[in-house]
Amino acid sequence: MHKDFLDIIDYTPEELQELIDLAVELKKEYQQGGNQPVLKGKVLAMIFQKPSLRTRVSFEVGMYHLGGNALYLSPNEIGLGQREAIADVARVLDGMVHGIMARVFDHEHLLELAHWTTIPVINGLSDYSHPCQALADILTIYEEFGQIKDINITYVGDGNNVAVSLMQIAAKLGANFTIANPVDYDMPAESIETIRPYAEASGSKLTFLRDPHEAVRHAKVIYTDTWTSMGQEEESAKREAVFPPYQINAQLVSEADPDAIVLHCLPAHRGQEITDEVADGPHSRLFPEAHNRLHAQKAVLYNLLGNK
Ligand code: CP
Ligand code: NVA
Repeated sequence: MHKDFLDIIDYTPEELQELIDLAVELKKEYQQGGNQPVLKGKVLAMIFQKPSLRTRVSFEVGMYHLGGNALYLSPNEIGLGQREAIADVARVLDGMVHGIMARVFDHEHLLELAHWTTIPVINGLSDYSHPCQALADILTIYEEFGQIKDINITYVGDGNNVAVSLMQIAAKLGANFTIANPVDYDMPAESIETIRPYAEASGSKLTFLRDPHEAVRHAKVIYTDTWTSMGQEEESAKREAVFPPYQINAQLVSEADPDAIVLHCLPAHRGQEITDEVADGPHSRLFPEAHNRLHAQKAVLYNLLGNK
C-alpha cells in the first residue's frame, strides 16, 4: 500500500496492472450510470505552478464522480517555496485536506511535499515525469489492443517528462519502448539506468535511436509531445530549428504497422510535432487518450484516498 503516486518506477507491475483494472472498472461503472461515492467527504487540494486543462479538469471531475471535492490552488495563491516554505505548505494542508495533487517545476518539490505530509501526494507533472499521463496512455493502449506486453511503442521527439514516464510504464509492463530524438534532447541518463533492470525482468526491449523512420518501423503506437515543454519557452526558437524532422505526419505514420495508433499527451502544436491530417485522421486516438486521464486518475484517487 503506497502513500503517494509520484513516479511509475515506485509501483510494481502488479500494482500498475491493478490500477489499470480498477480504471477499466470505474470507467464501466461510470458509463453505466455513475460511480459509488467512495470518496464522500474527501477533499483534494490541487497545487498548480504551471497551466493545465486536462490535469485540472480530470482531477476535479474525478473527485466529483467519486463523491468528493477538489480545490484549485493557483501559483498566485500558494507561491510554493516563495511565499511560503514547501514544508510549511505541506504541514498546513496535511491537517485540512485528504490528498494533494501538485504540478511543479522541480521534481524535488514533490518529494518534499510527500516527506512533510501524512496524506497522499500525487504527481500532476514535474519537469522530470508525468506518471498520470503514462497511466492514461497505457490504459488507452490496453483498450485498443487488449494487451500491453510485447506492444511496440515508439516515441518520437523530445526526451522529456512524458517520454520518461511512458518508458517506465512500458518497461514495467513488458511493452517495447523505442525513442527517436535529436542529439542533445536525450532522456535523462538516470531515468534509463534506473529502469533497465525492470525492463530486463519484464522482457521489455528499450531502443534509443536518432532516426524517426527507423524508430516507427513495426510500431503499434506512435507517440509525440511538444518540442518545448512548460518552463523552456526561451528555447523555443532553437528547438523549432532542430525538431522538424521529428514531426508525426502521414508519411511517417505510413511507415509504421498498418494498425498503428497515434497518441499525444496534448496540448498539441499542430503543424509542428504533429500535422492536422494525423491528429484528426484514422490512426489518431488523441481524444480517447485525453478522456482516459479521468478514468486512470480516478483509480489512483480511489486507491490512495479511499478506505479500501
Ligand atoms: N496532458 C496534460 O497533462 O495536459 P494539461 O497540461 O492540459 O494538464
Ligand atoms: N512535456 C509537456 C507536457 C505537457 C502536458 C510539458 O511539460 O510542458
